[in-house]
Amino acid sequence: MALTIFILQLAVYILAFPIYLLNFLGLWNRICKIWFPRFLERFTVTYNEQMASKKRELFSNLQEFVGSSGKLSLVEVGCGTGANFKYYPPGCRVTCIDPNPNFEKFLIKSVAENRHVQFERFVVAAGENMHQVADGSADAVVCTLVLCSVENQEQILQEVRRVLRPRKMSSDNQWSADEDKGQLSRLIRKSRDSPFVPIGIAGFMTVVSYGLYKLKYRRDQKMSIYLIHMRVAAQGFVVGAVTLGVLYSMYKDYIRPRFFNVSKK
Ligand SMILES: C[S@@+](CC[C@H](N)C(=O)[O-])C[C@H]1O[C@@H](n2cnc3c(N)ncnc32)[C@H](O)[C@@H]1O
Repeated sequence: MALTIFILQLAVYILAFPIYLLNFLGLWNRICKIWFPRFLERFTVTYNEQMASKKRELFSNLQEFVGSSGKLSLVEVGCGTGANFKYYPPGCRVTCIDPNPNFEKFLIKSVAENRHVQFERFVVAAGENMHQVADGSADAVVCTLVLCSVENQEQILQEVRRVLRPRKMSSDNQWSADEDKGQLSRLIRKSRDSPFVPIGIAGFMTVVSYGLYKLKYRRDQKMSIYLIHMRVAAQGFVVGAVTLGVLYSMYKDYIRPRFFNVSKK
């Protein structure tokens, strides 16, 4: 057994030796930077096929973030070959950020294939420091398949926050920081997201209150039987509301986005 392990380890060392050597000579990084865009270009074809419906859903509400200019200013961090371009809304102005300059030629190809987007510029920079992009200049920032391999996720998210235009969300069913203040507004927001919970609670209270009010008019019915009926009615209401809530969530999260091409809210 020990001999087998030793032979396998030796085989791995021998196979990996060229990589160690290239890394030692400082060439491995350069080779990866050249080779990776070519690989990603091929990978993207299959990946986009598999993810088409998810990406369509994910980017379907981008237009809602348009600022006063009337055109969506979008910054894509770690843009790679521009795999997301085809899902962007028409007229969208895209600034691409990537630390690997070798992506530029692939990006230009993507721009040519996606004439509906307006390519602004390609900035060679890491997401952790994209000072070339002005504060509050972007309506939206897109970052896909990037954060898992960066050096400092927190720093990137801070940069994303810096470049995003401050925005107050006012539409009925969207979250807003102002709205989130205070217990009451939080409760209202939660009730709006899951309306069947307050409906269930209100129904329960109504049935119990009505039952208690009618208690003295129950004629010759036994108290214990009367209370059991009341409890079953109240519980039935809650179970009914919870079931409707679950069905509604399934419709909202899975059926509506898939069949009616509506974004999840
Ligand atoms: C797996 S690719 C994803 C490309 C593209 N976003 C997509 O969905 O196809 C990861 C990309 O992130 C870039 N990247 C790596 N480190 C980065 C960093 N610190 N900041 C921004 N981009 C980075 C890579 O150069 C590469 O283009």
